[in-house]
Amino acid sequence: MKEADENWGLRKRGMMNEQLFTRTLRFLLVIVGMYGFIVADGSESLKLPEPRTMGGRPLMEVLADRRSSRQFSRKEISLQVLSDMLWAAWGVNRPESGKRTAPSAVNWQEIDIYVSTANGLYRYDAFRHVLVHVSPDDVRGATGTQEFVRDAPINLVFVADYSRMGRVSQRNKDFYSAADAGFISQNVYLYCASAGLATVVRGALDRVELAKKMKLAPEQKIILAQTVGYPID
Ligand SMILES: Cc1cc2nc3c(=O)[nH]c(=O)nc-3n(C[C@H](O)[C@H](O)[C@H](O)COP(=O)(O)O)c2cc1C
Repeated sequence: MKEADENWGLRKRGMMNEQLFTRTLRFLLVIVGMYGFIVADGSESLKLPEPRTMGGRPLMEVLADRRSSRQFSRKEISLQVLSDMLWAAWGVNRPESGKRTAPSAVNWQEIDIYVSTANGLYRYDAFRHVLVHVSPDDVRGATGTQEFVRDAPINLVFVADYSRMGRVSQRNKDFYSAADAGFISQNVYLYCASAGLATVVRGALDRVELAKKMKLAPEQKIILAQTVGYPID
């Protein structure tokens, strides 16, 4: 009995050590994880996993499947899938020149992708491949006039920063930023068709109300929104 007690004591101490070790490891991981959220400029950011830039379905099959869908499951989209999608949409594909997966007039790169989720609003910083935290508010419901936008896991908002567009007329800014957002949107469509996601680009939205909710600057113009989620089975 004594031996058994002693053994129990040893096992218990061993378990205590194991628990302590696990807790310490978890604590350290949280600290390291939190550090990943805070990047050099001090803004809170969420580091995206490396995008998987190889593979995917053959282009011609993806084109055959590209479509708009307006029914979305509430299933969450993983950070890896979000990372891949944002890279496909508007990532840096030539780091040596800083050029991107979509063309832009005069290489102005005036479009920013905002990512609206239940956990808040983020801006995609393609050069660091991070999501910069903009607001803790869930603004999904304001990204469109259709019911599904409220519950779909992700609504992208394509915002043009007119201050990056040089000295051209307002008309040309409107025209080129709409064209540039269209290319990005099509990249999202193609990625979604490849990855089995549902998506629809949307122009029907209250831009004034949404700009207020997103706290945009006067030179930032909302062009389009695009909902992304898993299809309903
Ligand atoms: C600029 C633009 C704005 C659009 N706006 C909306 C919209 O507000 N709501 C919506 O449900 N679909 C919207 N769509 C999706 C179109 O309705 C859709 O692309 C069209 O019906 C053709 O269907 P498909 O994409 O499946 O080929 C928009 C498409 C474009 C290109």
